[in-house]
Amino acid sequence: MADREDRLPRRAALLGAGVIGGGWAARLLLSGVDVALYDPSPGAEATVLAQLARARRAWSRLTPVPPPPEGALTLAGSIAEAVAGVELVQESAPERERLKVELLAEASEAAPADAIIASSTSGLRPTAIGAAMSRPERFLVAHPFNPVYLLPLVELCGGEATAPETIARAASMFGALGMHPLLVRQEIDGFIADRLLEAVWREALWLVHDGVATAAEIDDALRYGPGLRWSTMGTFLIYRLAGGDAGMRHFMAQFGPALQLPWTKLTDVPELDDDLLDTLVAQSDEQADGRSIEELARIRDDCLVAVLSGLRGQSWGAGVDVAATERRWLRAQAGPDSIELDALVPGAPLALHETVVAPEWIDYNGHMTEHRYLEVLADTTDRFLPLIGAGADYVVSGNSYYTVETHIRHLGEAHAGDRLLVTTRLLGHDAKRLRLFHEIRRADDGTPVATGEHMLLHVDTAAGRTVPAGADVLAALERIAGAQAGLVEPDGAGRAIGGAPAPAPAPIPD
Ligand SMILES: NC(=O)c1ccc[n+]([C@@H]2O[C@H](COP(=O)([O-])OP(=O)(O)OC[C@H]3O[C@@H](n4cnc5c(N)ncnc54)[C@H](O)[C@@H]3O)[C@@H](O)[C@H]2O)c1
Repeated sequence: MADREDRLPRRAALLGAGVIGGGWAARLLLSGVDVALYDPSPGAEATVLAQLARARRAWSRLTPVPPPPEGALTLAGSIAEAVAGVELVQESAPERERLKVELLAEASEAAPADAIIASSTSGLRPTAIGAAMSRPERFLVAHPFNPVYLLPLVELCGGEATAPETIARAASMFGALGMHPLLVRQEIDGFIADRLLEAVWREALWLVHDGVATAAEIDDALRYGPGLRWSTMGTFLIYRLAGGDAGMRHFMAQFGPALQLPWTKLTDVPELDDDLLDTLVAQSDEQADGRSIEELARIRDDCLVAVLSGLRGQSWGAGVDVAATERRWLRAQAGPDSIELDALVPGAPLALHETVVAPEWIDYNGHMTEHRYLEVLADTTDRFLPLIGAGADYVVSGNSYYTVETHIRHLGEAHAGDRLLVTTRLLGHDAKRLRLFHEIRRADDGTPVATGEHMLLHVDTAAGRTVPAGADVLAALERIAGAQAGLVEPDGAGRAIGGAPAPAPAPIPD
């Protein structure tokens, strides 16, 4: 489906608006598609609106790009009214075969002849539930995952009567909705993902049943380890890495025999004969696409860093452990707040701040978005101020420095996971003013990323006016200025925006 041309459906009908139908509604409406809803429950509209609110919030946190104008939602009094004039019908009624057979048959009579009709069923076969439909060649299963408005996977499975063109058109529509259509090659119960999920779930239930682990312990076993890895590479690519340079065949030789041991309740294991091993090794090679183990390990680690730092931002799961490590490391080093002015290195800028580019700092161009530069620069200023005795206690006492002017030069790109180092020069000061110059560089190769020049004024915060700084603060500034006296003015200091002059004002008509 690589060359697919994605195109949104003109209009969509949803039959059933519970957990899944509501999620479909949110994804469609947010993508700008008009939706007609049929659900006999009086609470259906509220479910949709609640999911839409969640979807708006989630997507506004995921990307700074505003979504297109939302589609319009209409409530239909009948199946026929809902499906009139639509290009996509998505059925998400309860998982009961008889109910779906009747619902889909009625929808197929009333829907336009060229509409794609899809079912969200988690495991029923399309041939069975489409048995009473007219023109079943336009019917398929499109199995999504909750929350539908965020998770991209949609498994597409055709039945005996499904036309290949139906699968291709459906893939194009779901692709345009920002989803990842995965074609299920054979019509099977449970498709691909639910078979995997069910295998894990089956084992989890046995572990609880046998008193081996509690529900929380089983969830921890997933979310602190394998679950994080799964989110980046699935199962097979991760195991290829576990095999090291010797690859998949070595991994299978090492761990394959263990499948015969009764570790799990799922002991029905396919025979690891040469045919299966050759198939597996060939598929693993294809999946690796020529990348070395070193390259794959770097991709895995970078993706894990992205997931872990996302979780750290939420103070959740494995992110809590990352934050704890970070705090331990911070305590173990002489943090910026504890730099003694006596330790100032004469003739060198101050190394005050170090940070790592978080994944949520990245914009649609794939590198650090503009306002994050200011955030890093402002954090550096916040490390400078305690150094001169103008930290938290000083602010509580009613004095502070306010930034009144900033000039940022963007010199290089920073990507998720890059470690940034910031150094600081005190370019000038007097009793009320402070002129700082920060320089951000990438830690790995020293590439300049940005500079920031900032003018700060010393204020009496209660009175709201500038006043001279305290004597201790001024003395500390003198010492820093003295230590940096030998440094030449940094490149780019004192710059304003250059370039094309503003056009001359138009003459005022008489
Ligand atoms: N919940 C999940 O995680 C999940 C994931 C993927 C797929 N699915 C599948 O999606 C489908 C819906 O599941 P759900 O979890 O949203 O169920 P749900 O019970 O939350 O919602 C079902 C909705 O269908 C409505 N309904 C009942 N009879 C109807 C009819 N005749 N016509 C139209 N609507 C009718 C109900 O009022 C309800 O609002 C099922 O086939 C399920 O297997 C569920």
